[in-house]
Amino acid sequence: PFGSFKQVLNDGLQNGYAVGQFNINNLEFTQAIVEVANEEGSPVILGASEGAIKYMGLDYMVAIVRAAAEKSKVPVILHLDHGSSFDMVMKCIRNGFTSVMIDGSHHPFEENLAVTQKVVEASHAVGVHVEAELGRIGGVEDDLTVDAREAALVRVDEAEVFVKKTGVDAFAPAIGSAHGHYKGKPELAFDRLKDVRDVTGVPLVLHGGTGIPDEDILQAIRFGVSKINVNTENQSAFTDTIRAIFEKDKNVYDPRKYLGPAREAIKEAVRTKIRLFGSANRA
Ligand code: G3H
Ligand code: ZN
Repeated sequence: PFGSFKQVLNDGLQNGYAVGQFNINNLEFTQAIVEVANEEGSPVILGASEGAIKYMGLDYMVAIVRAAAEKSKVPVILHLDHGSSFDMVMKCIRNGFTSVMIDGSHHPFEENLAVTQKVVEASHAVGVHVEAELGRIGGVEDDLTVDAREAALVRVDEAEVFVKKTGVDAFAPAIGSAHGHYKGKPELAFDRLKDVRDVTGVPLVLHGGTGIPDEDILQAIRFGVSKINVNTENQSAFTDTIRAIFEKDKNVYDPRKYLGPAREAIKEAVRTKIRLFGSANRA
């Protein structure tokens, strides 16, 4: 069935594990992620970016996820990822999303606070939970100077005010992670993460989960992270599989012959993450 975002994350926070948000891009991603979550007995969050919603079509996406959730024995959460506006949030809620992220992090603090407050008030009125972001979580192509990196990190005083004033159910602080494949080893600001945990008390979200070393993932979970977002790694697993099949057999034409193995590749990538995050057998 569909599950409760808040309940799933709070259980993670209390029991020292994290739930994965795996982004969906098509039918095969959705099937793979929900199937492996069932095999592992793990709650699961399906991330829907605005780009993916545009690609799949909001109605098709919701219909596919609903079919998967109805069959699922573990709770499935359909979560808007990096929602850019109040209007987009409303559209998703109206179409059956269980939770939303409003990302006002590119706005000045007061504006981010205002749009997040508005989203929380409207969403909570209809039982939908909200994640929001503070600081800047960029792409790995940003080659940051020391000063720029510092400027992008969440401020602890702002985090405290933001979480108290908005009442968000989950909070994504920028601590140096980024979207995409890292060029070198990511440097996560663990001191900052710990301070944010101490002043906020809500489940924390780690974006840019692709390519973060296992020991850093476990450290982040110890410091209050109970949701970890992964997208690029599954996209790569999917595409690498298809590329290898095409290289081996130039005559393949039946899409099932390469989409099937690609779907299996996502399952194994997600299985590894579920076990690392500690969410197996928690559903
Ligand atoms: O919101 C989505 C995630 O932060 C995905 O990051 O593509 O680097 O795994 P990733
Ligand atoms: Zn993200």
